[in-house]
Amino acid sequence: RENKDLEGIKFLVTAGPTREIIDPVRFLSNHSTGKMGYEIAKAIIKRGGEVKLISGPSGLEAPEGADTVLVESAEEMFEAVQESYPWCDVLIKSAAVSDYRPKTREGQKVKKDSRKEEIQLTLVRNPDILFEMGKIKGPGKIHVGFAAETEKIKEHGEEKIQKKNLDFIVANDVTEEGAGFAHHTNIVHFIDKNGDHSKTEKVEKSAIAHEILDKVLLKKKSENS
Ligand code: C5P
Repeated sequence: RENKDLEGIKFLVTAGPTREIIDPVRFLSNHSTGKMGYEIAKAIIKRGGEVKLISGPSGLEAPEGADTVLVESAEEMFEAVQESYPWCDVLIKSAAVSDYRPKTREGQKVKKDSRKEEIQLTLVRNPDILFEMGKIKGPGKIHVGFAAETEKIKEHGEEKIQKKNLDFIVANDVTEEGAGFAHHTNIVHFIDKNGDHSKTEKVEKSAIAHEILDKVLLKKKSENS
């Protein structure tokens, strides 16, 4: 791909898991590697766009040319997104944000208590970043969400588009072979707020990244015409 068709477009992309601290040596997280979001950032740069990448802990190297901000928890990610949101034209939320966090962050390591067979960890809701940004969505901005589903992809996707005020959602069926977390490949459904629905073959995440950007570009062009 040679053409710089994203020149002048500013993208805010989130990637990776979040870590929710329990105590100085423990946290809650998930299997997200950040691969999808990093591939999107790389594809944007290749096509001449500008990108701010807000990433949770990921073993991946920061893409050359991206302004990369590393965060740990969902709350930190929310703050970083809020700070950069006014700058962007397009918000792409591929991060796997923890929905809950431990209510208290212990200052010292929680000790094993030989008298207790069971202990409790109380969790509280994290902000839904995409939902919150959807409430204050700026004019002309495009919001793209992700979803991992195990059933009723289209229905659940459409619900999320409404609830989070999205332009389209990239949904994957995590029960399918070669899809989702920690794979190079994925099979995704594109569900648009206008009702369009399409599904990819099993393809590399880099190819999915380019397809997402093609869709964003089409939307921007149709808005301007
Ligand atoms: O509702 P669900 O978690 O399936 O929605 C997934 C989408 O919402 C993803 O784009 C994810 O980045 C975003 N999300 C978020 N903040 C949360 C949970 C999910 O921005 N606390």
